[in-house]
Amino acid sequence: MSRVDLNVDLNGLKLKNPITVASGTFGFGREFEDYLDLNNLGGIMVKGLTLKERKGNPVPRVAETPMGMLNSVGLQNPGVEYFIKNELPFLKRYDTKVIANINGNTIEEYCEIAHILSSTSVDSLELNISCPNVKEGGVSFGRDPEMVYKVTKKVREYADKHLIVKLSPNVTDIKDVAEAAEKAGSDCISLINTLIGMAIDIDRETTILARGMGGLSGPAIKPVAVRMVYEVFNTVSIPVIGMGGIMDYKDSIEFLLAGASAIAIGTGNLINPGVAAEILKGIENHLESKGYKALEEIRGKVKIPSK
Ligand SMILES: Cc1cc2nc3c(=O)[nH]c(=O)nc-3n(C[C@H](O)[C@H](O)[C@H](O)COP(=O)(O)O)c2cc1C
Repeated sequence: MSRVDLNVDLNGLKLKNPITVASGTFGFGREFEDYLDLNNLGGIMVKGLTLKERKGNPVPRVAETPMGMLNSVGLQNPGVEYFIKNELPFLKRYDTKVIANINGNTIEEYCEIAHILSSTSVDSLELNISCPNVKEGGVSFGRDPEMVYKVTKKVREYADKHLIVKLSPNVTDIKDVAEAAEKAGSDCISLINTLIGMAIDIDRETTILARGMGGLSGPAIKPVAVRMVYEVFNTVSIPVIGMGGIMDYKDSIEFLLAGASAIAIGTGNLINPGVAAEILKGIENHLESKGYKALEEIRGKVKIPSK
């Protein structure tokens, strides 16, 4: 029995605690079974799914950078039908919410995947309109508020499930995009996806990633992510899942204070595959030491001294 009430209600999706793992950094959970009890997680955001299998981008497609990493994996995945048949039953053995991250080249493709997953036992759909590593779809949908509205609204019609829209930080004003997702019927918002970056090998005089650019993640992006969560929390009334550079419980508390209802751990899983369980304990201890009875008491509580 937890000493602090850690339950989270993401506008219909109920998590037993605020810890989730970010899409693309946790596979379908199997590789992490030996490092932590998956029952400890509030939710698992599975690797990005597409209608058909994708082999991903050419290598090298990951590179270490100061305080972070660049990736251009390019949504390598076995396709939605394979996931339903071979991975979902495994995930459903655990007492955690399964969030399917969906990706399409066209609005019709997003809708088709949403429709297919609506008759399965996944608990929620996370609409990834923010992937910087694919030629079509992805971030090109997530940049323009009108497009975000259009794709979200259409998917909403086909998705008979709780719906999360995942926002890209590669925009001029994140508030406009968040408002568009809310207006179009999203139940919840997750952010941030990776920031577009580039690294160069000065001896070979080529980019390190085969595709040139990739998505920057890890501690380097945390201040940008915390700022965007703060802005979105203060703009929309649907709940927010915050992510970007979370490596320990202190990072998580920053996101909760900025307004996140739940958090997702991404690159942190690649460095310490058991980190999610450690973060859960750390959050609970921190809240208890501060005298809080429930997680929601700190949500959005950050004060700006000069305001
Ligand atoms: C190797 C890798 C693969 C990723 N694949 C996906 C994906 O398939 N779908 C998605 O929505 N986000 C994907 N992301 C983005 C993460 O889910 C997350 O939004 C981002 O990395 C920021 O969090 P972090 O700094 O904690 O990693 C990926 C990130 C990494 C590092």
